[in-house]
Amino acid sequence: MNKRYYVTTPIYYVNDVPHIGHAYTTLACDVLARYKRARGYEVFFLTGTDEHGQKVEKAAQTGGETPLELADRVVKRYQALWEKLNISYTDFIRTTQERHKKGVSELFRKIEAQGDIYLGAYEDWYCTPCETFWTETQLLDGNCPDCGRPTDKLKEESYFFRMSKYQDALIEHIEKNPDFIQPKTRRNEVLNFVKEGLRDLSISRTSFSWGIPVPGNEKHVIYVWFDALTNYITALGYPDDPDGLVEKFWPAHAHVIGKDILRFHTVYWPTFLMAAGLPLPKTVFAHGWWTVEGQKMSKSLRNVVEPNMLIDKYGIDAIRYFLLREVPFGLDGDFSHSALIHRINSDLANDLGNLLSRSTAMLSKYFKGTLPAPEAGDDLDAAFKEKFAQAVTLVDRHMDDMAFNKALQSIWELVSAANKYIDDTAPWALAKDEAQRGRLGSVMYNLLEGTRIIALLVAPFMPDTAASILDTLGCDSENLSLEGQDQWGGLQPETAIEKAKPLFPRIETE
Ligand code: ME8
Ligand code: MG
Repeated sequence: MNKRYYVTTPIYYVNDVPHIGHAYTTLACDVLARYKRARGYEVFFLTGTDEHGQKVEKAAQTGGETPLELADRVVKRYQALWEKLNISYTDFIRTTQERHKKGVSELFRKIEAQGDIYLGAYEDWYCTPCETFWTETQLLDGNCPDCGRPTDKLKEESYFFRMSKYQDALIEHIEKNPDFIQPKTRRNEVLNFVKEGLRDLSISRTSFSWGIPVPGNEKHVIYVWFDALTNYITALGYPDDPDGLVEKFWPAHAHVIGKDILRFHTVYWPTFLMAAGLPLPKTVFAHGWWTVEGQKMSKSLRNVVEPNMLIDKYGIDAIRYFLLREVPFGLDGDFSHSALIHRINSDLANDLGNLLSRSTAMLSKYFKGTLPAPEAGDDLDAAFKEKFAQAVTLVDRHMDDMAFNKALQSIWELVSAANKYIDDTAPWALAKDEAQRGRLGSVMYNLLEGTRIIALLVAPFMPDTAASILDTLGCDSENLSLEGQDQWGGLQPETAIEKAKPLFPRIETE
């Protein structure tokens, strides 16, 4: 098995500024990337921005800027947020970059050359905010069935992609590859849609100009979704592959997206790839939708949750933890400040934070901060260690399923087990009896060793917290590899371990 992993976020539109929804997808990809690196994979983690199309052109006009000026400004906000959130991406692609434009033209040319693109005329209902054409029967009361906004009747000369030709091949692919579209409910949704019949797809526009020109016919710009989806290969260097990255990393292991853009990723993109003779991504995972205090997030409701503000108030790792712990990946979720504060106080301050402060405080009190060597353990110890071995396996399985909340649950069962181990062994009682000195030493070792493994397991989710715990334990906080280090016994006796400062202050509420 070759240990390589390619994971992508959607490329975000620059007519909007980043909010908690964008942060969520990007964070999930970051956790996958970090986990796979810890498991010894060579990881390519791509994110970026979608800068062409009528929506961006219009937004720029409204603000009195050129589309590129708008993009340059908003891209910085995305990049600054990713830096602040500790996002470890490998590359950031902008669709206005030469490398991208060249690759998109080439993909268009290739599909055209083999007969799957033709020039025709288009007449249908167009939703500008969604950049999507709808047939008369798809409209709901004359409005866009996705966003409910009014549509315009548009007739224009257009290039078409013979998507209908790939209907059967796509059905077969979805049926033969149960992991291709996840979660299962989304897979069924797409399958039903494709079985109803695929129409050929309009893939050029003449009504505006902010886009990549159709090769050989500059009146047309390439449809923004054809342009955008292709980022997943142009970022690797398609078509020339100067650095061998296409060869190395394509097909992607995971395109992680929100459910709003499922169809583009599971119908359009795979059929483009089939037409170009390229392999399909292994998995498209569509996660659910965040609302805020029960409402849809929107600029007009002024309830958009701004991640920078949250991070400043609660800390990076608290936000990273909350977003992936609170809601099963794939389901919709509601963001509320009270839920966030509850998680911070109970899971982080109370459970994890107290574990580290209690155990290091005891080591400092009973052994002057020098880690003793463990003696042969009893049944309680054996059961305690066994829990760690099981959790390591479980976390691995949950990460493969992108079940982040379950992975965190499994890790927190260890945190609880460690806190319970303190209560069960009652070190304060052992400390009163000189004959129990050896036993007390073992208990201290087991506790801190368990904490070390917990730190490594939480590292993909909370990198700063993990580093701080590992530093406290005298471990190399740069080496987050789980290969081997996830086994019991990594802590070296005689290590000096100081009493830890609180990891997470409790948030007081009015
Ligand atoms: O669709 N809840 O870009 P976009 C959860 N450029 N996730 C959310 C969210 C919410 N409330 N709001 C946004 C585009 N997202 C295209 C993509 S890809 C080739 C082109 C996240 O800026 C979620 O990942 O509208 C969603 O799919 C994405 O942002 C849409 O970002
Ligand atoms: Mg959108």
